[in-house]
Amino acid sequence: MYNEYDAPHKDLRELIARVEKSGELLKIPGADWDLEMGTLMEAVYHKNADNPPAIQFTDVPGFDDGQTVVSGLTNSSKRLAITLGFPVPECPMDVVKSYRERMKGYAPIPAVEVDDGPIMENIDRDDDVDLYKFPVPFLHELDGGRYIGTDDLVIMHDPGDDWTNIGTYRSMLHNKNTVGLWMSPGKQGRQIREKYWAQGKPCPVLISIGHDPLLFLASGNEIKYGLSEFAWAGGHRGIPFETVKSELYGLPIPSHSEIVLEGAMYPDKTLPEGPFGEFTGYYASEVSNEPTMKVERVYHRTKPIMTIASPMMPPSDFSFCKCVMKSGMIWDEIEKAGLNGVQGVWCHEAGGARMFNVISLKQAYGGHAKQAAMMAANCQSASYMGRWTIVVDEDIDPTNMFEVLWALSTRCDPATSIDFIRDAWSGPLDPRIPKGQKTNSRAIVDACRPFSWIDEFPPVARCTEVQMKKVQKKFKHILDKI
Ligand SMILES: Cc1cc2nc3c(=O)[nH]c(=O)nc-3n(C[C@H](O)[C@H](O)[C@H](O)COP(=O)(O)O)c2cc1C
Repeated sequence: MYNEYDAPHKDLRELIARVEKSGELLKIPGADWDLEMGTLMEAVYHKNADNPPAIQFTDVPGFDDGQTVVSGLTNSSKRLAITLGFPVPECPMDVVKSYRERMKGYAPIPAVEVDDGPIMENIDRDDDVDLYKFPVPFLHELDGGRYIGTDDLVIMHDPGDDWTNIGTYRSMLHNKNTVGLWMSPGKQGRQIREKYWAQGKPCPVLISIGHDPLLFLASGNEIKYGLSEFAWAGGHRGIPFETVKSELYGLPIPSHSEIVLEGAMYPDKTLPEGPFGEFTGYYASEVSNEPTMKVERVYHRTKPIMTIASPMMPPSDFSFCKCVMKSGMIWDEIEKAGLNGVQGVWCHEAGGARMFNVISLKQAYGGHAKQAAMMAANCQSASYMGRWTIVVDEDIDPTNMFEVLWALSTRCDPATSIDFIRDAWSGPLDPRIPKGQKTNSRAIVDACRPFSWIDEFPPVARCTEVQMKKVQKKFKHILDKI
């Protein structure tokens, strides 16, 4: 049983149909690529922060050939559960728990190569390539250009260690057959690119700009080095993803993608890239000369569907799904590293699912909270651009900001409960570090009752569950009215 279905969706189209059936798809006809899509995304995602719908832009002016553009397909508990094949959730933590449950018997399933697939329906070669045939959005007013890749899959093969990496990297449209890619220092895609260049070779790339959102969940999160995102996502799907060999460089094209670009990056072919409104809520990275890719092949389905994401001051169309995925991944990683007692993890949306993370812990020994904080602040899934890691006791719901602030206010002694990690992995998108600096500092905050005198800590002024239930029953007729 895969959610309420017998089998995983076979592609983006079937997933969209399932999301529509669940009542969480908002169709918007007539929005222009030039700022209207981006502004509508902000209007929808800021207004419906609690349960925002996915958006499908239809009838895009100037593109009357049936192309559509989708955003936010995984950005609610229900849609994440549909995408990952989890039971229907009642709250975000249910999805985190389903993820944890899945990971108990989880094994990656590598992609399999097939001879053909719907992506090969149309192929534009060399001089026929014209990326303006797609409704590439200009998202925010201060952006440096139109971005063809936002919810994209940048697929590269490691020339040394022989595995295929996928990362989500913004790609700017420079002209009809050139795109520029922005990869932050330290990212696996960037490490692979540098390996090719160190060998004096061009770096072959595929960019998918319409695909199964399960691949986007893999691609936009820090999966461990050497494990292909195809295999990670295949393991969640329970059956392998299929790929078709690309014409020029033999790279694996997801056979059910909607649009895939193929080309290569050279160290000396750069163009100014950015600025771009980012997930922190700022335009932090400056315009810089970034590698470009001359697009030599465009593979696409007929009436292709583009997937887009619009980073902005959170919440955005992907910030919620990052919170859930990061929370599940961090919890899983610290437990696999040997930590016990974790009751919950929540990466808050205001921190872009990276910068304000809370761990709830049942303390069992002195130093337990500090150990949890250190591990959670720098495990693989939390390593990039962390800032605040807060450990609270097991009676605090980490998703409930009121309770977290109460714990910080009453159980934390700032002079002794806060430590700092210096020189940690960050990058140009961090608005709080000076230009050119690549690392930041982060705070680990122990907001638990001090373990050495936990038994003497003042009791919480709250009635017991038994007492509450007794009174609620007796005064039901009155309490029901409020
Ligand atoms: C919507 C979205 C856009 C992103 N854009 C970028 C980007 O432009 N550059 C970047 O370095 N990371 C970006 N990221 C983060 C990376 O995709 C993420 O760190 C991923 O793990 C990188 O993969 P890799 O290290 O396996 O190559 C983005 C993530 C998401 C979800």
